[in-house]
Amino acid sequence: MPIAITGAAGQLGRELCRQLGDNAIGLERNTLDLANPDAVRRVIAELRPSAVINCAAYTKVDLAEKEPDLCRKVNALAVEYLAEACRAHDCPLVQISTDYVFGADASRATPYQETDTPGPQSVYARTKLEGEQHAATWEKHVIVRTCGLYAPASRTGNFVETMLRLAREGKTLRVVDDQYCTPSFVPDVARAVVFLLSKAAFGTYHVVNTGETTWRRFAEEIFRQSHMDVSVQPISTEEYHAPAPRPRYSVLDTGKYHQLGGPPMPPWRDALARYLRETRNPAPLRQSAAGDRSPE
Ligand SMILES: NC(=O)c1ccc[n+]([C@@H]2O[C@H](COP(=O)([O-])OP(=O)(O)OC[C@H]3O[C@@H](n4cnc5c(N)ncnc54)[C@H](OP(=O)(O)O)[C@@H]3O)[C@@H](O)[C@H]2O)c1
Repeated sequence: MPIAITGAAGQLGRELCRQLGDNAIGLERNTLDLANPDAVRRVIAELRPSAVINCAAYTKVDLAEKEPDLCRKVNALAVEYLAEACRAHDCPLVQISTDYVFGADASRATPYQETDTPGPQSVYARTKLEGEQHAATWEKHVIVRTCGLYAPASRTGNFVETMLRLAREGKTLRVVDDQYCTPSFVPDVARAVVFLLSKAAFGTYHVVNTGETTWRRFAEEIFRQSHMDVSVQPISTEEYHAPAPRPRYSVLDTGKYHQLGGPPMPPWRDALARYLRETRNPAPLRQSAAGDRSPE
């Protein structure tokens, strides 16, 4: 029985489908609209998956402040429907969540553990926390909190590509320098998710690359590794004027995950280097025996 992956067209869903291959069945929004409880029940009953990994989410953090009901439908209520369907079929539910469930503690300067009390600051963050609470009503749940995802071939773009594009266009770069977190490379996070599911390690886990940085320092590292001489001006969160509040500090402690013996989460700089290598020098194509061309 395959593992059902919702949000299969998104950054993480797509990578999980790639890593799991024939063991996965990817569900995009046109196959399963998670805002429709009948559709959730019907699709899970028909597929009878061995597990569900819910990567679907309303991820437009700023727009969510204007669309709280839609955001809650996808990030919270849909998880309630999924948890009910998974309970009915006795299959584990992996719910992907976010570092943004933290942030209320303005003086925090040490990584958050799974046992720390959440303090969401925005509509998006509150709905993601509510989604966690729905997932946790089913005992066979794995909640994976991650942060700042970037993936090769992301349809919606990502921070790395945005920085490189703005620099190529000669734009002045002003980037927030007072939000500390850990940008994380999607293939590393996906591997960890697969590991946690394979271990049936029920509970909540923090899964991010190692270390911490700010968005301004991350941008500088992107240009350093890309051999581009670009100056990045630091600005404060207030100067950026984003509609949704963000945590000043949301670094996640991955100790609980690593104690289980999962694949190590490499330092964020190494992860960025792999991303740049993969996207700037994709693996060469080779001629297969059948004569078609496939990636190495
Ligand atoms: N991106 C980050 O930096 C980040 C950071 C921390 C945590 N997370 C969490 O990690 C998970 C994966 O994020 P991601 O970056 O892969 O997100 P993403 O690229 O934005 O993908 C989310 C997917 O969810 C789908 N979706 C939205 N509403 C839906 C609905 N009603 N029914 C079915 N599918 C729906 C979207 O479909 P369409 O393509 O049709 O819109 C999209 O494919 C999410 O839970 C997110 O909250 C993300």
